[in-house]
Amino acid sequence: MCGIVGAVLREGSVLEGLLEGLRALEYRGYDSAGVAVGADGGVSIRRQAGRLEALESVLADGALEGARIGIGHTRWATHGPPTEINAHPHTDGGGRVALVHNGIIENYLELREELCGQGVEFLSATDTEVLAQLVGRELAAGAALVDAVRSTLARVRGYYAIAALAIDDDRALVCARQGPPLCLAVVAGGAFLASDPLALVRHTHELVFLEDGDVATLSPGSYAVVDAAGEKAERPAVEVELDEEQAGRGAFAHFMLKEIHEQPDVLARTAFDRIDEVEGDVRFTEEGWDAECLRSFDRVQLLACGTARYACQVAAFQLEGLAGIPADVDYASEFRYRSPRLSERTLALAISQSGETADTLAALRLARELGARAGAICNVPESSLVRAADCFLMTRAGPEIGVASTKAFVSQIVTSYLLSVAAGRARGNLDAGEGRALLEELRLLRPRLAQLLSRETHARIAEIAERHHEVKGFMFLGRGIHYPVALEGALKLKEISYMHAEGYPAGEMKHGPIALVEPGMTTVVIANKGPLAEKVRSNLEQVRARGGQVICVGSDAPSLALADEAVEIPETSPWLAPILSVAPLQLLAYEIALRRGCDIDKPRNLAKSVTVE
Ligand code: G6P
Repeated sequence: MCGIVGAVLREGSVLEGLLEGLRALEYRGYDSAGVAVGADGGVSIRRQAGRLEALESVLADGALEGARIGIGHTRWATHGPPTEINAHPHTDGGGRVALVHNGIIENYLELREELCGQGVEFLSATDTEVLAQLVGRELAAGAALVDAVRSTLARVRGYYAIAALAIDDDRALVCARQGPPLCLAVVAGGAFLASDPLALVRHTHELVFLEDGDVATLSPGSYAVVDAAGEKAERPAVEVELDEEQAGRGAFAHFMLKEIHEQPDVLARTAFDRIDEVEGDVRFTEEGWDAECLRSFDRVQLLACGTARYACQVAAFQLEGLAGIPADVDYASEFRYRSPRLSERTLALAISQSGETADTLAALRLARELGARAGAICNVPESSLVRAADCFLMTRAGPEIGVASTKAFVSQIVTSYLLSVAAGRARGNLDAGEGRALLEELRLLRPRLAQLLSRETHARIAEIAERHHEVKGFMFLGRGIHYPVALEGALKLKEISYMHAEGYPAGEMKHGPIALVEPGMTTVVIANKGPLAEKVRSNLEQVRARGGQVICVGSDAPSLALADEAVEIPETSPWLAPILSVAPLQLLAYEIALRRGCDIDKPRNLAKSVTVE
């Protein structure tokens, strides 16, 4: 949802560093990009529609080399199409300021009308340009950049992270945050800002995280922060553990493929050191999950968006089945628009990879206001969600760069499983022996998942993709805890191959979707051994009887034998089985997208982190 960077150096040239930062942030948006650098009392701006490479080729002329201050932006369009004119940075009419922005200015139309009434001419369709115009007017009236930014933001309603440079000052950058993340790296020779630590850790692992309402001024080797009340604020640097290697693609063709293959290790990292084998229990290092606390809830309200929401649906099965706690799931974007009934005995649990999804954040904040305890399961320790929560559990998946979420989903399911076992133990729903057996399943799952991701299975899935990548559409069917996996399988395919795909509870197929079944339409059925196996098998037969092609993924041998294509998965605990059934679906989506020539890591219209509502 847009990435912003900025740099100011004592000596040298900022350009390559800005571009490197933007490369690390491209996952946030990639429909256009731009930079502004200050030099010789002026500013040079280059913007391009399309991917960062388009901007890089324009910059190859070297004209912007040598500048010591600059800002950059990679965009995911919200206001106005992804054209060069709408790309950031934006300036004011008088050419006094260049500004980049991530987020949304909600009252921009009002402000724009007011400015137009005063004769200001707007060049773009963006909400951002309003900010540039307002800051420019303040500068024209003699304000310093930091004051111009502060008084502009006082007039603005919305969600934003911004960075600005004044054209006549090549020594200081100003940035501000209200909502989307913004962090700083300050070293002896310079100061840098970015939307994500990923873009900063090559300078230092000691980073400063701005809080909502903060406005910061950066100069080479120093920074100063003023909080929402206008007071000087202490925002000390904190050590960030982030392995730059982890953020690279390594030998894999795509981040998505690398992240799929990381899943066995992610499972181990998320779970193993939290397992207490002696007590058959779970030990979280994070605070707020002790037995007393886990006993105090009478219900869990799960909240999330996208893939994380499907993880919530799996979590609801685990919490009800293992801990005996009633659990409901809602779309974070819908939750606020009903009249939720929560109490202090409700655990509102938001699940999010990024911890920056605007709808999820707003839903959790509302739940807290309504009296619930606000919990989060999240992958990013410094995220807004973790800060907004009363208690949190980290999923430890490591940076996920591919826009289509894979390893984060698995880490979320593992974390909710741990939480469910811990709650089951605390509430007397599970005894030590049962706890031990359930936790042992996690250790057994790792080699099974690794085996499932072997070259042979991948090759088999590639063959299936070869036969199905041009079909009319896909339906994904699953029952029980595999219904959310069916939804996730359909979402993965939609996201990266742009094929029409629907996920349905297998038993619901006969109430409508069966009308879609015909030759040329592929149905993926998740069929595992267990009490639902026969029912799923009969759904599979209903599809076959109508000429539909069936790909069966599962451990139920009779279902596999009935299908046109079969991917066998190892058996595991039913509460963890979604981890095994989703892996082939991730690979299927990947292989189909590859054959359709899609941009797998940067699918059209999507963004990794959606910081607008
Ligand atoms: C976007 C991403 C999805 C993700 C969803 C929720 O739509 O493209 O992959 O599942 O946001 O993101 P979160 O960071 O809250 O898990």
